[in-house]
Amino acid sequence: MDLKLMLVVAFALVRAAAADGQVALPGCNDTCGDVKIPYPFGTGMSSSKRQQNCSLEEKFSLTCNASTSKLYRNTIEILNISLEGQMEVSFYVSRLCEGDRDGKANDPYLRIPSFAISSKENKFITVGCDNYGYLNSIYNGSTYSTGCLTRCYGNDPAGILKINEENCTGVGCCQVDIPPGMKNITVQVFRFPESLEPMENCGYSFVAKRGSYKFSTDHLKKYLTNETFPLVVDWTVGNHTCEVAKSRHDYACMTNSFCDDKDTDHGYRCRCQQGYEGNPYHPDGCRGNFFCLYM
Ligand SMILES: *[C@@H]1O[C@H](CO)[C@@H](O)[C@H](O)[C@H]1NC(C)=O
Ligand SMILES: *[C@@H]1O[C@H](CO)[C@@H](O)[C@H](O)[C@H]1NC(C)=O
Ligand SMILES: *[C@@H]1O[C@H](CO)[C@@H](O)[C@H](O)[C@H]1NC(C)=O
Ligand SMILES: *[C@@H]1O[C@H](CO)[C@@H](O)[C@H](O)[C@H]1NC(C)=O
Ligand SMILES: *[C@@H]1O[C@H](CO)[C@@H](O)[C@H](O)[C@H]1NC(C)=O
Ligand SMILES: *[C@@H]1O[C@H](CO)[C@@H](O)[C@H](O)[C@H]1NC(C)=O
Ligand SMILES: *[C@@H]1O[C@H](CO)[C@@H](O)[C@H](O)[C@H]1NC(C)=O
Ligand SMILES: *[C@@H]1O[C@H](CO)[C@@H](O)[C@H](O)[C@H]1NC(C)=O
Ligand SMILES: *[C@@H]1O[C@H](CO)[C@@H](O)[C@H](O)[C@H]1NC(C)=O
Repeated sequence: MDLKLMLVVAFALVRAAAADGQVALPGCNDTCGDVKIPYPFGTGMSSSKRQQNCSLEEKFSLTCNASTSKLYRNTIEILNISLEGQMEVSFYVSRLCEGDRDGKANDPYLRIPSFAISSKENKFITVGCDNYGYLNSIYNGSTYSTGCLTRCYGNDPAGILKINEENCTGVGCCQVDIPPGMKNITVQVFRFPESLEPMENCGYSFVAKRGSYKFSTDHLKKYLTNETFPLVVDWTVGNHTCEVAKSRHDYACMTNSFCDDKDTDHGYRCRCQQGYEGNPYHPDGCRGNFFCLYM
């Protein structure tokens, strides 16, 4: 092997070690089914001699259902966790169809009061003819709402506003941005009482990760069969700014990492310093990428 190739191989080995070596605490499970569980998240207690919680704080404590290999926070299924400070969860669609009891839809809620749903990564969507939807955040005794409404004009051949066959462009389907800071949310769909649209049309409201919902006119004429969509939640550690957190005994950013509280409304994130990689929350800290240092 020539020197260049050897360096490349060494580089690959260092990278692999840094990326895989320090996901969970010793004695803790680092996966549940297909989902990786990086510290500060964890399930249960460590099986190593130093009995300790596998999660840093109660809000990062998850459970793995051994029979289904699915990961949960209370009853919410976790689909993916990223050390950049985001987590994907599965969230339900609010649906209103003909014959629903009292003309009322189910009102799905997401009770993770510690974490806000991501403003950048999600959209709030309402699908239907003559429907409107609310996205409510109920926090500390106050309710904050945003929403979306839909009309179809589907039977008017001379109409100007037409339903786009495959994109959510505002007729039959409405999508809006979500303001930052919404936590502990509920979603509700309604039908305008004066609607002349045929009753067999259902209406739907939901929060979905950008790009995860693909509109089709079938959802107006037939059914939207998906009962859930992935939703992105922002997570942070602690309740303090970096300045305060740094002088506390429970400061979470380990060796070769730094504290970042930009774009957080509570708490902070840890990031590896440049030239280092791995898990900045793990007691081993971030590891040097020696190949890069020598270059
Ligand atoms: C870790 O996984 C094993 C095997 O799936 C399971 O028996 C054990 O209870 C898990 N431990 C924790 C702390 O979740
Ligand atoms: C350890 O975790 C459990 C739940 O996983 C929690 O009830 C308990 O309070 C935690 N203990 C400490 C010391 O954090
Ligand atoms: C695991 O999932 C199965 C199937 O959904 C369910 O019957 C069981 O109660 C779950 N176990 C726990 C410990 O939640
Ligand atoms: C989880 O997220 C990471 C990065 O955000 C991505 O690379 C990976 O494909 C995702 N995994 C799944 C199963 O969605
Ligand atoms: C979360 O919302 C529920 C109602 O859906 C409310 O009862 C509860 O107090 C809220 N939690 C917080 C922390 O505000
Ligand atoms: C909740 O509201 C009360 C009264 O408005 C305020 O004093 C308190 O700081 C708030 N708590 C949080 C966690 O925002
Ligand atoms: C839907 O949007 C995509 C991407 O912007 C575009 O390529 C496509 O032509 C649009 N479809 C219709 C029916 O307008
Ligand atoms: C329904 O969910 C599947 C993945 O579970 C996804 O591939 C599909 O695009 C979703 N349907 C719609 C209409 O978004
Ligand atoms: C953050 O605040 C919550 C409730 O106010 C508390 O339960 C939790 O222990 C605090 N976490 C830290 C790291 O101080």
